[in-house]
Amino acid sequence: MQLQFTEEQLAVRDAARDFAQNDLLPGVIERDTNQEFPAEQVKKMGELGFLGMMVDPKYNGGGMDTISYVLAMEEISKVDASASVIMSVNNSLVCWGLEKYGSEEQKEKYLKPLASGEIIGAFCLSEPEAGSDATSQRTTAEDKGDYYLLNGTKNWITNGGNASVYLVMAQTNPELGHKGINCLIVEKGMDGFTVGKKEDKLGIRGSDTHSLMFQDVKVPKENRIGEDGFGFKFAMSTLDGGRIGIASQALGIASGAYELSMKYAKERKAFGKEIAKHQAIQFKIADMATTINAARWMCLEAAYQKDQGQNYARAAAMAKLYASQVAMDVTVEAVQVHGGYGYVKEYHVERLMRDAKITQIYEGTSEIQKIVIARDVLK
Ligand code: CAA
Repeated sequence: MQLQFTEEQLAVRDAARDFAQNDLLPGVIERDTNQEFPAEQVKKMGELGFLGMMVDPKYNGGGMDTISYVLAMEEISKVDASASVIMSVNNSLVCWGLEKYGSEEQKEKYLKPLASGEIIGAFCLSEPEAGSDATSQRTTAEDKGDYYLLNGTKNWITNGGNASVYLVMAQTNPELGHKGINCLIVEKGMDGFTVGKKEDKLGIRGSDTHSLMFQDVKVPKENRIGEDGFGFKFAMSTLDGGRIGIASQALGIASGAYELSMKYAKERKAFGKEIAKHQAIQFKIADMATTINAARWMCLEAAYQKDQGQNYARAAAMAKLYASQVAMDVTVEAVQVHGGYGYVKEYHVERLMRDAKITQIYEGTSEIQKIVIARDVLK
């Protein structure tokens, strides 16, 4: 494993850091308060190549490695986790799956504009009654010869309102269980497809999370990804990479809160000296630094394994499990370090604390990560 980042990786990290400071930081509190989608910033992310980072340049991607993706995700998440989940879903759950398993026609038609950021995509697996238990899909895709007739409801869909392309998992042959599930590419504007209510969330409030309704939507057969019945494996394998993205997001949220805590602790005085000189604060800072370092290595290990073509499912689940716990622990302590100031919006750490929680829930709860890890360890 390389111990030194390449010049290219460092350049990506620096570009992401500049973008976060210059374009995301201004207005981040207002966007959170008003649940405002960062449309302008997402457009710029596309221009900078952050929305299709790992996609082959022949499909308008950046041709970068997963290590660069982790570095960029960390920097962007330090400042705005709403922007970084939009980025993570587009990169990991939409572009990656399309590039890996899509047909040449699908890549030309959908991957190219998604990778350039001209449009963004959404990954639609969760349903009102199928969250962790993802095989229990109630959405149906009835085979009608030339097309599938799609019916059902999806819940908690990131980018739900702003996406143009949706990868929708649906059951075609219920008697086959998970082997009867397909993944269909659905376009916004197809007859019978409506975007439902926007969720009013605890955190990542700048990202839009919606339910989606499909009523007799005719989806052409050529919009199925992979062979008939490949949809569940498509979703599971896509989520393996998605977990590296969310682990890096959690890492970034923790790093952001840590950096703010360091700055505050060196400025704020109590009992005649900076609070950073009090052991009570030093212990917290030391715990933050140590656990963030471990989480960073776990994210990089999973990314490295992916870049090397190794099986990274376990490492990705471990990174997500650990980094999301670190994000929670560090942000709670960051609020404590800031005292009363930590409890108000201006100091950012209360938002980071709210944002941290979702990293233990989406793309598989912490309990799901433990199942994935245990099954792999015990096999
Ligand atoms: N890659 C490829 N195939 C896989 C796989 C993987 N990582 N994991 C499992 N499979 C295959 C299995 O090999 C099996 O195939 P065979 O029957 O041919 O052997 C099949 O899938 C079924 O696997 P399991 O028996 O392990 O399935 P299960 O019902 O026990 O569920 C689970 C496994 C890990 C719990 C899974 O259901 C899961 O990951 N649930 C969580 C779903 C999730 O993460 N949802 C998040 C929604 S997306 C989101 O949050 C995005 C967003 O908006 C930010």
